[in-house]
Amino acid sequence: MKTYDQLYIDGQWVRPKRGGLFDTIDPSNEAVITQVAAATAEDVDLAVKAARRAFDEGPWPNLKGRERAAVLRGIANGIRERQERLAELEVRDNGKPLPEALWDIGDTAGCFDFYAELAEGLDEQREQPITLADDRFTSLARKEPVGVAGAIIPWNFPMLMAAWKVAPALAAGCTMVLKPSELTPLTALELADIAHQAGLPEGVLNVVTGLGPDAGAPLSEHPGIDKLAFTGSVPTGSRIMQAAAKDIKNISLELGGKSPFIIFDDADIDAAVEWIMFGIFWNQGEVCSATSRVLVQRDLYEPLLKRLVQVTEELKIGNGMEEGVLLGPLVNRGQYDKVLAAIARGQEEGAKLLTGGTRPTHLDKGYFLAPAIFADVPEDSWIWNEEIFGPVVCIRAFDDEAEALRSANDSRFGLGAAVMSKDLPRAERVARKLRAGIVWINCSQPTFTEAPWGGYKQSGIGRELGEWGLNNYLETKQITRYDSEQPWGWYIK
Ligand code: NAI
Ligand code: MG
Repeated sequence: MKTYDQLYIDGQWVRPKRGGLFDTIDPSNEAVITQVAAATAEDVDLAVKAARRAFDEGPWPNLKGRERAAVLRGIANGIRERQERLAELEVRDNGKPLPEALWDIGDTAGCFDFYAELAEGLDEQREQPITLADDRFTSLARKEPVGVAGAIIPWNFPMLMAAWKVAPALAAGCTMVLKPSELTPLTALELADIAHQAGLPEGVLNVVTGLGPDAGAPLSEHPGIDKLAFTGSVPTGSRIMQAAAKDIKNISLELGGKSPFIIFDDADIDAAVEWIMFGIFWNQGEVCSATSRVLVQRDLYEPLLKRLVQVTEELKIGNGMEEGVLLGPLVNRGQYDKVLAAIARGQEEGAKLLTGGTRPTHLDKGYFLAPAIFADVPEDSWIWNEEIFGPVVCIRAFDDEAEALRSANDSRFGLGAAVMSKDLPRAERVARKLRAGIVWINCSQPTFTEAPWGGYKQSGIGRELGEWGLNNYLETKQITRYDSEQPWGWYIK
């Protein structure tokens, strides 16, 4: 595949009906990488109809799990064969450093392998007998694919976010229309090509690139969609929920966060600094679960800040393809301006900017930002409470466990949370009291395909990954049989 100016619909590469194109840029130099097909409602309609046909009339939902697994493994292998190229595309389209992109692509392939295994498991576990109190009946619960799924994904982990939705949907026997973010559309189109080569039947996966209002909105409103899966911002998630409400579509939402990280004063300083940085500087802090609010116990506060500033200032910033770079540019001008505005706001609100928050002097082009560390951040400030989605960490001191927990849980979000202490019973106790869907102890951010992922409160609805991810794309059907020789005897005695 050489160009990205076509959509993948019904197993074919087609130009958008209205012929539109949009630019995708490389945020390290602000140059256009290429022009990408801009889908509109007409194309989305064709894609949904193709997915509908593939579900209602095609072989895919009725194949054995092991037959679907073979295709999923073919996709995993196809991704691995192109791993270098895919990683480089992610670096250019998103800005992230190459080692992170390679990690993402490895995880993406692993996700397809994992769901291949769960697809095989469905052959054995699809039907479960139910014991009824009334022995005149025999009953079972049966898992069936939910139908045609629509997936709308963000730009921070472009190919991995596609995999988190495409792999379980295909494993379950669903068909899908995928709309990647307009900021990072390239690897989703590559995924379509890989799936095609792996022998995925036509119409099972359709990829429509395009803008949110032009392609995302019609997908979320389309009556031919049974289930919507979305990852992105809270306002867009809310809009998608409203669209889904019209015809009661099944939805799962993975939204924003302002995840807390509680560090007790018995923690090792270097371990704390390492995980604080991994929690907010990895992927330029453009991570939904980033631990962007850090609470440090009083006695450790000053020494920890000193070490954190020192290591942060040594971090190599630059083009993600460059050797040794650990922080790339932000994804686009809009996100860059948004993060700069948040930094200005934090200063107005009285938070203490210890380092960063400006363009590094050696980089005059691209959306580069020296990572910002704010200390003594007021608890009622905007920067303490709202998602910034950049390399900006907000830090406060606390005195005791109760205060840390109260402050950590005082948020409308509940995606991630982390706690660090050498006192494991205390760390375990705190972990159980944090109101969040993902809690890390003595680390922050590592993510595993096998484990449930999703948020409490406004951070979302439902769970992805693991068996929970598969269940997102399954309906449960009850089949009950009347076995008695005796007539029912209600109307006819
Ligand atoms: P967004 O939530 O608007 O975009 C995510 C996806 O939704 C994209 O594919 C977009 O095209 C699509 N979309 C946009 N408007 C839509 C609509 N009306 N109907 C259907 N689909 C629509 O996020 P955006 O604009 O890229 O970033 C804005 C902020 O969102 C960021 O600054 C960050 O704070 C947050 N964000 C959170 C993410 C997360 O994983 N939690 C990921 C990306 C952004
Ligand atoms: Mg781009």
